[in-house]
Amino acid sequence: MLSFFHLFPELLLLALVSGVAYYVATAIYILYFHPLSRFPGPKLWLITRIPNARSLANGQLMHRIRQFHELYGPVVRWAPNELSFIDGQAWKDIYGHHPAGRDFPRNPLYYNRAINGAHTILSADNVTHTRIRKLISRGFSEKALQEQESFIKTYTRLLIEKLQVHAQAGRSVDIGEYIQFATVDIAGDLIFGESFDCLAREEAHQWVKRIRQASRQRFAFSSAKTGKRLALGEAPHRSDLITYICRYNDDKGMSREEIDATADILISAGSETTATALTGTLQYLLRNPEKMKKLQDEIRQSLRTVEASLSIHHTAKLPYLNAVLLEGLRMCPPAPSNRPRLVPEGGAPGLWELGTCPVGIPVWAAFRSAQNFAQPDSFIPERWMEPEEGGISLYPHDTTVFQPFSYGPRNCIGQRLGWAELRVIMASLMWQFDM
Ligand code: HEM
Repeated sequence: MLSFFHLFPELLLLALVSGVAYYVATAIYILYFHPLSRFPGPKLWLITRIPNARSLANGQLMHRIRQFHELYGPVVRWAPNELSFIDGQAWKDIYGHHPAGRDFPRNPLYYNRAINGAHTILSADNVTHTRIRKLISRGFSEKALQEQESFIKTYTRLLIEKLQVHAQAGRSVDIGEYIQFATVDIAGDLIFGESFDCLAREEAHQWVKRIRQASRQRFAFSSAKTGKRLALGEAPHRSDLITYICRYNDDKGMSREEIDATADILISAGSETTATALTGTLQYLLRNPEKMKKLQDEIRQSLRTVEASLSIHHTAKLPYLNAVLLEGLRMCPPAPSNRPRLVPEGGAPGLWELGTCPVGIPVWAAFRSAQNFAQPDSFIPERWMEPEEGGISLYPHDTTVFQPFSYGPRNCIGQRLGWAELRVIMASLMWQFDM
């Protein structure tokens, strides 16, 4: 059958020429007349999305953005309508509190609602977010953490026991996998009121396997677990997160759908992050045996009993342990990408002309930038210590840019718990094993 263009070939030519002319005119506009044209950036990335999509697909996007910042400086226009920042002030400008409801909203393109249609704490608009965060924040207080210490101790002990059996039999194991078993079991007990039994079975639970697979099945599973725990009510002896939600929920609090959606997010937010930070840090310690030895010496000399190595209080006081973990978070931030926000309608100081343009800080690139940290690819925990503690002064050392738990009203609500897990699990591993 003859097509329309076969009958009128000159129309095909006209369509082609118009298409090319439109593309060229758009490219000229984007490069020279667009409101963002004063910001430097890779020209090819501005006129076509292909290199961007290719880098995303092959896992190189953060590396490319890091290179752009090395080339163009602290502010880079890396997409036609998008800016990337790697300086400390940007945390305040983009993620900080702004008066009169002018906090930068999240870019909804990057944050999905849950499968049941409810907002999660991550996808919620700023008003809904404040309501959800207010209710769950009591479960993340200092007091709640003290009550939750037993969860961390129980699963760290089990982790050590399991590893000891393999060590005594001379078998090697994937330590990253075992650390993840522990952090998932802690999160399960803390949120659903029961462990996922990954450590007991020494295998990843279906829920973990489904993080990247069948999200619908995973959500149904989380929802059933949440329902089971909610049915127990406040259960004051447990002090898990549902205890606090049951105690303080009212008609201004969270709906059942929102609780399901947030519980599902909490498991991955609370387990993958700590497991990633610990595994990444261990990897750098193994590559730097003299730092590992220094850490072991500090831990074994300061913490005299197994119980002390499992204590949130005692492990928080060790300067080298804390420096190692800070350096681990700098080199392997568990949330490495930029967390895109939109400049609010009408603009913001310094960015007033940008309309609702997406802006963000590419965390990994910012932490690995020589503009912010000297010898950025070297694992040097001493940079985080005072000289009188044995630290060394390196320049630059811009702590304002170092926000592994994000910044402002939507920063990590679980950072106290996260720090406790990082310290206790790392201290226990170092106390018990030579690696
Ligand atoms: C090393 C450990 C951790 C790191 C580095 C980390 C990092 C982060 C970051 C960067 C965000 C901001 C995400 C965004 O803007 O999209 C965040 C948010 C969040 N994190 Fe963590 N996290 C850690 C541990 C935990 C733990 C243990 C929990 C709880 C069990 C937790 C629960 C959450 C929740 C609920 C949010 C959303 C907060 C909100 O939007 O108000 N995190 N975390």
